Amino acid sequence: METAHLLLKHHLSKDDIVIDATVGNGNDTLFLAPLVQHVYAFDIQKRAIDQTSTLLKQENIRNVTLIHASHETFKDYVVTFQAAIFNLGYLPGGDKSITTEKDVTLRTLISMLEALKHGGFIQLVVYTGHEQGKLESDQLNHYLKTLSTVHYKVLKIDLPFQDNTPPYIYMIYKK
Ligand SMILES: C[S@@+](CC[C@H](N)C(=O)[O-])C[C@H]1O[C@@H](n2cnc3c(N)ncnc32)[C@H](O)[C@@H]1O
Repeated sequence: METAHLLLKHHLSKDDIVIDATVGNGNDTLFLAPLVQHVYAFDIQKRAIDQTSTLLKQENIRNVTLIHASHETFKDYVVTFQAAIFNLGYLPGGDKSITTEKDVTLRTLISMLEALKHGGFIQLVVYTGHEQGKLESDQLNHYLKTLSTVHYKVLKIDLPFQDNTPPYIYMIYKK
């Protein structure tokens, strides 16, 4: 998503360690890699990891660690990080029944917010155009309302006047 990428470009620098929590077709991973020092990139689907591995080789990109596991396991691979991104939902062009799950997403988000560097951020691209996506969006809204405004700032970017249920973006900044 173009707006999501613009925000990442604006906020990231070459010293940063970043987590891509949902590799999918690898578009976000390939976008992030040249901007930062290192990307740790997770997906539960082997197909997503294999496809992205091929793309990275083609582009001669070497600063990405691809991890075939749930993003819940991030602490096994990453100690400290400046940012994490989630592109929720199912793999475009893939099996629509394999989608991010609201409880897993929330658990990981909570644990990443704790581990995130001060001054860092988490970006979520949220889709409400499918049933599981709506539930995930509701749960995230509910949780983010409870976040301490002393410690976090939450920005929501929405496209209210488009017909085709486009995704919206959350940027959560840790003060
Ligand atoms: C919308 S796609 C991501 C699109 C991707 N960022 C891109 O640039 O193409 C969502 C991905 O999340 C993955 N996923 C679902 N649950 C996951 C989990 N617990 N941990 C890691 N990846 C997960 C799915 O397999 C799917 O590939």
